[in-house]
Amino acid sequence: MIRLDKYLADMGVGTRQEVKRKIRKGMILVNGKAVRSPDLKIREGEDRICAEGREIEYAAFEYFMLNKPAGVVSATEDSRDSTVTDLIKEKRRKDLFPVGRLDKDTEGLLLITNDGELAHRLLSPRRHVDKTYYARIRGCVTEEDVRMFAHGLDIGTKEQKEQTMPGKLEILAGGEESRIRLTIQEGKYHQVKRMFQAVGKEVIYLKRERMGPLILDENLEPGEYRRLTAEELEGVRKC
Ligand code: URA
Repeated sequence: MIRLDKYLADMGVGTRQEVKRKIRKGMILVNGKAVRSPDLKIREGEDRICAEGREIEYAAFEYFMLNKPAGVVSATEDSRDSTVTDLIKEKRRKDLFPVGRLDKDTEGLLLITNDGELAHRLLSPRRHVDKTYYARIRGCVTEEDVRMFAHGLDIGTKEQKEQTMPGKLEILAGGEESRIRLTIQEGKYHQVKRMFQAVGKEVIYLKRERMGPLILDENLEPGEYRRLTAEELEGVRKC
């Protein structure tokens, strides 16, 4: 059960104050009748709530898979750039956030939700959730790099070491511009770019393909998204 004013505010009908005003003016129908008490207890999924002629269904949590395009920031608000949550048009919740960050120029898999507990579990360093990236690298990636990544690299500064955990590096194509796939279990700031910098190379394109059991849907073009399927949700909940 949830208070009517919270129900409406959670679903983005207005701020708590705005929805209270609407309720008091009799603009909200509960099971076909105008009600005037903001603290009326609503049974989510059972009571029918209408505001301004539209039925408002309640969603406690929402989960979207986004193929993040380059040029958009992994945040909920930004004064200059558009954000990943701006891209999700069909949301009911207004408290969605990205689970972890991808750099502005990175593309690929990003989970957008308002489920803080699930996000915390996926991001917890203790859980060692695999993240797989595809990248194009300026420079020839070698078997020696594969061994160094497998060992873990120092991506710190002259003054301060910063050791990574082992990463699984696969060379898909060598040459002056190499193509690779890398799986790591951490999410240090600019980690993939700094790991390649540590071996004297530069990431020129980066895309996340996978996070734990979630695999980027190849039908999603950059900027497109869809809701998680029941199976995907079950998979991430087990993480
Ligand atoms: N590593 C990076 O360097 N950038 C990202 O966006 C993600 C991982």
